[in-house]
Amino acid sequence: MPVVIRQTTPFAGQKPGTSGLRKKVTVFQQPHYLENFVQSIFDSLTDYAGATLVLGGDGRYFNREAIQVILRMAAANGFGRVMVGRGGILSTPAVSCIIRKHRTYGGIILSASHNPGGPTEDFGIKYNIGAGGPAPEKVTEAIHSRTQAISAYRIVEGGEPIDIDRLGTQTLDGMAVDIVDPVADYAELMAELFDFAAIRSLFASGFKIRYDAMHAVTGPYAKAILEGLLGAPSGSVVNAVPLPDFGGGHPDPNLVHAHDLVAAMSGADAPDFGAASDGDGDRNMILGRDFYVTPSDSLAVLAANAPLAPGYARGLAGVARSMPTSQAVDRVARELGIPFFETPTGWKFFGNLLDAGKATLCGEESFGTGSDHVREKDGLWAVLLWLNILARRKEPVDAIVRGHWARFGRNYYSRHDYEGVDAAAAERLMAGLRARLGSLPGTALAGLVLSAADDFSYTDPVDGSVSSQQGIRLLFDDGSRIVYRLSGTGTEGATLRVYIERFDLDRHDRDTQEALADLIALARDVADIEGHTGRSEPTVIT
Ligand code: G1P
Ligand code: ZN
Repeated sequence: MPVVIRQTTPFAGQKPGTSGLRKKVTVFQQPHYLENFVQSIFDSLTDYAGATLVLGGDGRYFNREAIQVILRMAAANGFGRVMVGRGGILSTPAVSCIIRKHRTYGGIILSASHNPGGPTEDFGIKYNIGAGGPAPEKVTEAIHSRTQAISAYRIVEGGEPIDIDRLGTQTLDGMAVDIVDPVADYAELMAELFDFAAIRSLFASGFKIRYDAMHAVTGPYAKAILEGLLGAPSGSVVNAVPLPDFGGGHPDPNLVHAHDLVAAMSGADAPDFGAASDGDGDRNMILGRDFYVTPSDSLAVLAANAPLAPGYARGLAGVARSMPTSQAVDRVARELGIPFFETPTGWKFFGNLLDAGKATLCGEESFGTGSDHVREKDGLWAVLLWLNILARRKEPVDAIVRGHWARFGRNYYSRHDYEGVDAAAAERLMAGLRARLGSLPGTALAGLVLSAADDFSYTDPVDGSVSSQQGIRLLFDDGSRIVYRLSGTGTEGATLRVYIERFDLDRHDRDTQEALADLIALARDVADIEGHTGRSEPTVIT
């Protein structure tokens, strides 16, 4: 089969963000569009002749087509081997796991995470490095500049497509294509980290779980691990078959998009434990019976209890959270006497801390939790750590969280999203706040004193790199905070995210929105959200 060099011209806007390049499927379907980006990835890498790449995705529309193209391009560019998940399926944490375990050169993940899938919805592509995590900024910047200068790409043409549903090795113009079981390596790692025997006894005792895979990538993983290896009753995993359009749903595990699960977790007949994961399997939502665990609280509870799992029995080196994530985990770290780190939004900022052994657990308020076992956040991992804790503590989810609040106090916390607002208006809102940072402190607002205001800047403790303008923080004297930032992952207009937090040592039973009401009103006024965006209410509250 011949290697063909195809002439091409650049497309504007092929700039990968923290989570890769995400665009509508129709954009990716333009002639040369995917090819230009893939060639730009390869052109930004060095010394990969004969090397191994991992390739898979969340099963969304265009996944299979993209895999065939990428395989042909990998062969034409001189890779020696590509490991592909059977059916083109690999969750994001599984890609990270396979890259690390098999010491491959890197990997390509096809996903737009929690964004809907289908012919008119989103597709995405992301490159992960040999350490298993997302490409660092210098690599994504190199890829972007390459997309703006590209004039040709290499691809093998002719011959039959690779049968990605058949396990085993096939060859493509001299390159080996290994179709691998998407679950096996990942399941083996989970069995090393967690007390599977204890979780098995928990299920054997009648404990009920409902795991909603949202017709996305974790279905096969959850079926094999929860029902297969751990003995949860068959049917515990629902919406378990990955579908190209995720069954028409929005595969984002939060109170809005996973409302079926939330409903199923209510009432006397509800299961003991509920969980869901997103499109590509890196996010998680945790529920007890009639009880929602915020991701920030989940991180804190996991940090406080992690040593109950064999993989963390030696304790934690440190914990890290993204800046907008609530400060609940900081309190745990202080009590444990371990370091904690506050990083900008985006998983990639945890990579150096994990690599350097400075942090063991990390998490974000956006339903992302993980540890040093891989270099991505990991939805099913969080579910298994919760199960391990539940199996050992033998208390219900709500009792564990209430006990946590009783010990550490409660950080009431909520995120208000204004989605699809005019991008220029959102920029003006942020610029307006930025211009007033100096004049805000000192003002007493809603009974609280605003003690500091800044635009978050992070200096990486490992490599010294500085990331500035990472979100505007209004910090109050009692530890309360309001944070504003613009989403970096949306594909339409801008999304303004407002994060509101208040600490209460003694009162733990209030409704969250009520407990935060004055800060919420203040957040709207200070930034004049309605004046700038025309929106009087957020579109999503989590
Ligand atoms: C969102 C989340 C962020 C997460 C990212 C990728 O980014 O807020 O925590 O790392 O998705 O899953 P954002 O849209 O806010 O830039
Ligand atoms: Zn995701």
